[in-house]
Amino acid sequence: MPVIPKPRDGLPAHVAIIMDGNGRWAEARGLSRSEGHRAGLEATRNAVRFFAEQGVGTLTLFAFSSENWGRPREEVEALFDLFVSAIEAELPELVERGIALRFIGDRATFPSDLQARMTEAEHATAGNDRMCLVVALGYGGRWDILQAARRWVADSDRGADPEAAFSGYLSTAGLPDVDLLIRTGGEHRVSNFLLWQAAYAELLFIETFWPDVTNTELEEGLTWYASRQRRFGRVPAAGDAAAPGEATGA
Ligand code: FPP
Repeated sequence: MPVIPKPRDGLPAHVAIIMDGNGRWAEARGLSRSEGHRAGLEATRNAVRFFAEQGVGTLTLFAFSSENWGRPREEVEALFDLFVSAIEAELPELVERGIALRFIGDRATFPSDLQARMTEAEHATAGNDRMCLVVALGYGGRWDILQAARRWVADSDRGADPEAAFSGYLSTAGLPDVDLLIRTGGEHRVSNFLLWQAAYAELLFIETFWPDVTNTELEEGLTWYASRQRRFGRVPAAGDAAAPGEATGA
């Protein structure tokens, strides 16, 4: 796995986004939900460029949850078609920008053409080290912990730091914990996303529907993150000036 560079001071090493609001964005315009997802793809492209240019090392996007299988068949199929065409269309730019693409989630039941595109794109970008773009497809945090636990119990070598060792069994093995978790679209919940990995993430909930998110909101998010004093359950030392986004103090 490529070593992703550390981000510059004050920047989160790992940003994760719950891209919510495509459906409501479309309904407000009298459009189909699938048109909302297509507009969401534009915002996704912009966000990937933005975070890569900022120097964030890892960006994880929640594109299809384990629970999304419960949506109408037509919407699910349209989403899969969108994922196939998006992977094909975006791959050259990812290669050019030095971005490694990695998918997390249970892909076994995805259509075979989608599975093939996912694997090809992972291989084509495996050597890239400017940013790791993680796309969660068929993903659920509980699924991730369970699949890790099954392999964990079968393995006798757990090392001196069991939490760090367990992280190595999760789908995000080798990636840093989430520093900043953003959810768009006005809901204030984490919806089974990265439950273990976001244990100490700063949580930012914004009202804007995902297709309307621009660099302005993303920049504000990074500025807000830089102002947070992260204590990880500890107490800051007397006179400690909190460095931006730094682990001085929950
Ligand atoms: C949530 O909005 C969005 C999704 C389930 C799909 C996200 C997909 C994209 C943004 C397209 C492209 C992404 C990649 C990475 C190829 P919602 O449908 O739940 O919106 P609602 O809450 O308003 O109904």
